[in-house]
Amino acid sequence: MDAMDHAPSVTPRALATEAVHAGREDLAALGVHAPPLDLSTTYPSYDARAEAARIDEFAATGARLEGPPVYARLDNPTVARFEEALARLEGTEAAVAFASGMAALTAVLLARAAQGLRHVVAVRPLYGCSDHLLDAELLGTEVTWTDPAGVADAIRPDTGLVMVESPANPTLAEVDIRAVAHSCGTVPLLVDNTFATPVLQRPAGLGARIVLHSATKYLGGHGDVMGGVVACDEEFARELRRVRFATGGVLHPLAGYLLLRGLSTLPVRVRAASATAAELVRRLAADARIERVHYPAIGGAMVAFEVHGDPHEVIAGVRLITPAVSLGSVDTLIQHPASISHRIVREGDRWAAGVSDRLLRMSVGLEDVEDLWRDLTQALSARSAEPAGVARSVAVPSPAER
Ligand SMILES: Cc1ncc(COP(=O)(O)O)c(C=O)c1O
Repeated sequence: MDAMDHAPSVTPRALATEAVHAGREDLAALGVHAPPLDLSTTYPSYDARAEAARIDEFAATGARLEGPPVYARLDNPTVARFEEALARLEGTEAAVAFASGMAALTAVLLARAAQGLRHVVAVRPLYGCSDHLLDAELLGTEVTWTDPAGVADAIRPDTGLVMVESPANPTLAEVDIRAVAHSCGTVPLLVDNTFATPVLQRPAGLGARIVLHSATKYLGGHGDVMGGVVACDEEFARELRRVRFATGGVLHPLAGYLLLRGLSTLPVRVRAASATAAELVRRLAADARIERVHYPAIGGAMVAFEVHGDPHEVIAGVRLITPAVSLGSVDTLIQHPASISHRIVREGDRWAAGVSDRLLRMSVGLEDVEDLWRDLTQALSARSAEPAGVARSVAVPSPAER
């Protein structure tokens, strides 16, 4: 299926246009070109009766405040611009931003639990900390792990959420979102869309009620801002705003500003990095040092592969590529999920979800493909690849050697 088949038909303008205009339509009337950055934590008002009525209204309904903000834990105009833009890109009525992806998932779980719906049905693999948050029952929720075909049978009267990632971190396994949404019936389906971004896939158009992002990744795009966001209908957004107000996991306005700016180049970045990733996948698949390459049918800039040799040697051997957790930045990052992103998941659960100890996950950036390939291929040659200017005897030891 072509990626744009995922786009909801209601989108009035093309994604590339929305990426640079959504959330900024009033700027010309304001007489500015860049969005204003409002860092206020509080806002003066001489009318305490009117403020009381507005606070009552917000606490009761979670509807966005009309008029000037009251306090930064309720609302912030710069963050609201990012929320408006992201909702437009995902094709949802609303979006609610948080301090991180994990804060966003926490708010979703708390909002459901507040309705007495503490049971979650989830499909592995998920990002390691999302798995941990559910599996350790840190928020008093209970999880049933299943595969996509088992979702309908796993649903109970107290199920408040079904959660999937597609493509999933780190195996890039894909879920048929439309089919799972059908299996969910009236239970909301949450799709973590961090890896695909709305450029490649819009889960709301496929039946997901809740679309979650670690905005830290592609939405920000430069590795310098942490955030999370949930795109959903206005009814659920109201519940999330009430939870955010009461629990405080707000996105900082500067982060909101940077995320809005990041959205402007999202389509260009994702398409350019995806083209490079597809070429690297082609070369890796033909390389005798590689056991298996994972790459989603919808494309994207994430690549995972299993090596015949020691994955720690590859991590120790890269010189241009950054050996670091996280993803979605302008530069290419590589990491070993069993050691880092999925370390917190029990070994047996990792293996059962297809996360082998030989798996490496690479987030392809915007470098030239030939430079990336040169670095990758020398790192894959492990010990035989001598880093420039570094004597063999003082080469960085791999974690396995430490
Ligand atoms: C798919 C996915 N979802 C959620 C998260 C959590 O996001 P954050 O690190 O912004 O809290 C991550 C982080 O790596 C992720 O990869």
